[in-house]
Amino acid sequence: MKIGIPGEIKAQEERVAITPAGVETIKREGHEVFIENNAGLGSGFSNEVYEKAGAKILGSPKEIFEISDMILKVKEPLEQEYNYLRENQILFTYLHLAAVPGLARKLLEKKVTGIAYETVQLPDSSLPLLTPMSEVAGRMSVQIACRLLEKYLGGKGILMGGVPGTLPAKVVIIGGGVVGANAAKMALGLRANVTILDINLDRMRYLNDIYAESLTTLYSNPYNIRQQVKSADVVIGAVLLTGKKAPCLVTEDMVKEMTPGSVIVDVAIDQGGSIETIDRVTTHENPTYIKHGVVHYSVANMPGAVPRTSTVALTNATLPYVVKLANYDLKEALERNEDLKLGVNTYKGYIVHKGVSSSMDLPYEDIEKLL
Ligand SMILES: NC(=O)c1ccc[n+]([C@@H]2O[C@H](COP(=O)([O-])OP(=O)(O)OC[C@H]3O[C@@H](n4cnc5c(N)ncnc54)[C@H](O)[C@@H]3O)[C@@H](O)[C@H]2O)c1
Repeated sequence: MKIGIPGEIKAQEERVAITPAGVETIKREGHEVFIENNAGLGSGFSNEVYEKAGAKILGSPKEIFEISDMILKVKEPLEQEYNYLRENQILFTYLHLAAVPGLARKLLEKKVTGIAYETVQLPDSSLPLLTPMSEVAGRMSVQIACRLLEKYLGGKGILMGGVPGTLPAKVVIIGGGVVGANAAKMALGLRANVTILDINLDRMRYLNDIYAESLTTLYSNPYNIRQQVKSADVVIGAVLLTGKKAPCLVTEDMVKEMTPGSVIVDVAIDQGGSIETIDRVTTHENPTYIKHGVVHYSVANMPGAVPRTSTVALTNATLPYVVKLANYDLKEALERNEDLKLGVNTYKGYIVHKGVSSSMDLPYEDIEKLL
């Protein structure tokens, strides 16, 4: 199979959909890899290292789309790429079609096989191609909070872990899933005082077992959230209601009760945010604002700040699926891999994912009938 990787053109997107190690793996399986000139530079991978791994460098996205049976990307195609797409081409990337109905129409019109990283789903309902980015964002949230607690960035001027004879920072994490657990791991590693609030008792039992006496878990309800937020130096928003907007859990009144110089990092901002005073999405260039004396951070693409790590983490997870798609014809690849089948959003001009069809109000077709 001919596999093409165009450079990402979305603003602030420095990731790329394959690493040189990934190219080598695909080549060993007997496929061809085409990469756009300098597509890997933002992640620290030069044309030369890709060529050494066996890829061919092409000068323009047009050439990549023309030659490739399967396109690998990180973010959804933008309008200037729509016309390159063609019938039966496989597009494997983060799609988030509900947010870009114009792209959905194009994929249907052009009969592109659109496979979305975010809907590939394992039998336990976990989303293996979202997990790596949640791991990155969870770990980053603490790294960021450490800096924001510093006085000259608006913080109250305390060191996350303290030193002997002083109190460490109190970190309150709302949501103990992938983001929350990774944030806790980092904060505990720095010797902060950490509390996680969640509504899933089994999850809290698990976290409690793993982190033993060093972590406090608390049931998430407005009473507990108010008590915890009030005394927190750092609040990390990490909730998710799959497929829904994040619930608002920390009200403006609660934020007003926090001490000046405290820090809020709302990782759930990409789902609308869970803190009432987070009223805007911020950027890596201008990541914070201060409201009621509290530093607010609400960057929606946190992994974009660490593209090298994010690219490697993402492609570690996507590569096995890429190999499956390349080694078998599409029907067989999907029949052998139910998780991958759930990733297919558009096929032969139909929406074939129930969730996507209902969130877009477009008719659904059963992929089994079309394969
Ligand atoms: N900003 C970014 O760059 C970025 C990057 C990755 C993920 N995210 C976002 O981070 C959020 C968390 O992702 P995740 O992968 O950890 O999800 P997850 O499903 O692994 O975990 C979410 C947790 O929230 C808990 N939860 C649900 N309702 C709750 C409530 N009312 N109170 C407390 N906990 C509650 C769930 O029980 C679950 O444990 C999502 O919104 C995701 O989109 C953002």
